[in-house]
Amino acid sequence: MKHDVADMKLASQGKKRILWADNDMPVLASIRERFKKQKPLAGKNVSACLHITAETANIARTLKAAGANVVLCASNPLSTQDDVAASLVKDFGIPVFAICGENRKTYYDHISAAIDHKPVITFDDGADLVTELHTRRQKGAHRIIASMEETTTGVIRLRALERSGKLKFPVIAVNDAASKHLFDNRYGTGQSTVDGIIRATDYLVAGKKIVAAGYGWCGRGFAMRCKGMGAIVIVTEVDPIKAIEAAMDGFDVMPMQEAAKIGDLFVTLTGDKNVIRREHFRLMKDRAVVANSGHFNVEIDIPALRKLAKKVNRGVRNHVDEYILKNGRRIYLLAEGRLINLAAAEGHPASVMDMSFATQALEAEYIVRHARSLKPVVYDVPIGIENKVCTLKLKSMGISIDKLTPEQIRYLAAFGEGT
Ligand SMILES: NC(=O)c1ccc[n+]([C@@H]2O[C@H](COP(=O)([O-])OP(=O)(O)OC[C@H]3O[C@@H](n4cnc5c(N)ncnc54)[C@H](O)[C@@H]3O)[C@@H](O)[C@H]2O)c1
Repeated sequence: MKHDVADMKLASQGKKRILWADNDMPVLASIRERFKKQKPLAGKNVSACLHITAETANIARTLKAAGANVVLCASNPLSTQDDVAASLVKDFGIPVFAICGENRKTYYDHISAAIDHKPVITFDDGADLVTELHTRRQKGAHRIIASMEETTTGVIRLRALERSGKLKFPVIAVNDAASKHLFDNRYGTGQSTVDGIIRATDYLVAGKKIVAAGYGWCGRGFAMRCKGMGAIVIVTEVDPIKAIEAAMDGFDVMPMQEAAKIGDLFVTLTGDKNVIRREHFRLMKDRAVVANSGHFNVEIDIPALRKLAKKVNRGVRNHVDEYILKNGRRIYLLAEGRLINLAAAEGHPASVMDMSFATQALEAEYIVRHARSLKPVVYDVPIGIENKVCTLKLKSMGISIDKLTPEQIRYLAAFGEGT
């Protein structure tokens, strides 16, 4: 079995992590049990370009239990858990091509290895694998039944491809399912971003002035958690509706130009580019901390920061680089501007990935069943799958809810009833 991981000796540690995460993924585990019997993906080659974490190991195990031949590669050069990668190869027989800290060439070689597997279904977190199938590796595109996209930025890229008329195969916007972004982006990124910042800096959150750039799903979750921990939270936005929402949720809302002067800690969660840039760095206080939790490392203009610096001290702490500006002030950049929750912490907690990956697993089954009718467009996840995942999750949490009575069903469906 071909693979490329950092160190096979880490496998036993990785296995413990995978099984620990599995304890908190009851919905996915129940789907895995059913898949073992029914084999809905029998014989299908699947390539998944995802963050190689303990939770991802459990979706990979689920796809394998469904009969698929699964290969994994990383969706970010810094997010791979090397022990998990080793265990997937050794203990679960799943080839992995991913090494934490890999350079750009190795990162793309690994995606290429996943395409060499001749997948008929692909999984992406940020659309890098699909992008390869539309550029350098187009020959593999004709085989694809459908591709699943896990994150907001990936969906944005794929919808742009669809609009240009160049999308070659169906894509499922898994991120856009309520059973994904309402929980994963809000509570998962919210909590794990705080976790990554604390692990990197060991800072006390209470009393800090924290600037959250972006008040979408991830930004809301992050701002909410920081407020709960006693921070004074400032939100920057470009969308007037989100800005009002942030204001009515009790946050200070202002442009980055103003926030830059006040903040102790800045976190970008926008999916946009150069959200914190030269003019902002110049206004920041001495020892301001800057981090990103959006998908790509372009949200903070790092080249501009480098130009402003007279000296850079790398690794003053794990995941912390110190930029000493010409004005004498120090700015600390975390995790080279890459996803802080995955680079410095462990990514989303398993309990929330349970819902995201259960959605992915049921969707994979669905696309195999409906392969013939799918067209090369971006699809939403059917509401039936979202409801199923949420129902199973509630059950696993021991929560039951009310059911509509027949009278209520009639009332809600009839136009005349409301008058
Ligand atoms: N760290 C993680 O593990 C993780 C998990 C899920 C999503 N993501 C990524 O996080 C990013 C945000 O995802 P989301 O689901 O919250 O998206 P979203 O679309 O719900 O929210 C993004 C928000 O950023 C705002 N924004 C855009 N440009 C801005 C700017 N220049 N200044 C201030 N605000 C700006 C938008 O108006 C929007 O409200 C994406 O890149 C997504 O892929 C990361």
